[in-house]
Amino acid sequence: MKFFIDTANLAQIKEAQDLGVLDGVTTNPSLMAKEGITGEANVLDHYRAICDIVDGDVSAEVISTDFEGMVREGEILAALDEKIVVKIPMIKDGVKALKYFSNKGVKTNCTLIFSAGQALMAAKAGASYVSPFIGRLDDISTDGLGLIESIRLIFDNYAFDTEILAASVRHPMHIIECAQIGADVITGPLSAMEALMKHPLTDIGLATFLADHAKANS
Ligand code: G3P
Repeated sequence: MKFFIDTANLAQIKEAQDLGVLDGVTTNPSLMAKEGITGEANVLDHYRAICDIVDGDVSAEVISTDFEGMVREGEILAALDEKIVVKIPMIKDGVKALKYFSNKGVKTNCTLIFSAGQALMAAKAGASYVSPFIGRLDDISTDGLGLIESIRLIFDNYAFDTEILAASVRHPMHIIECAQIGADVITGPLSAMEALMKHPLTDIGLATFLADHAKANS
């Protein structure tokens, strides 16, 4: 299972990279805005800076919603670095753009997936990744993890190469359950990955070991 970090914050990306378990980065226009990155030149520079930190795929999202605009933006993004994955929204022109980039061998991530039908369409168009937003489904009392299960079944039935990138991950149990279901990738905040390492019995056990060692060696 691959771990992507869902942020445009360079310090957090560096911290996750230094942990040694990071496989890539996902961004979106909201995350870029949160970091105060505005204007095309600054946005492109920021993607270059992210690519310089990480070893794996870096999803960079288009802003256009028409086919020509998505192709124009996607080509500029893809030319930045071979790590760039062009992130395209699940809309009709987006499906056409997925097919266009798939034919050209450019990696894509179809975002804003909220149903199995949308994931199937993206896979048919040759998307490298589909991003079902499980946290946002949970937010409206809908079964986000159930969607991952459903997409897993469909992709396995037909041996689609498209990877399931569980997005909008909010906490460690999302990651564990995605791993049980067989999502190929999760993307979430650094805090969710760090929480996987924590257990109170580990802390208590370590404190006891160190105290016993100190007593025996005093
Ligand atoms: O980047 C897409 C997705 O992961 C967004 O997550 O937490 O804004 O629902 P969130």
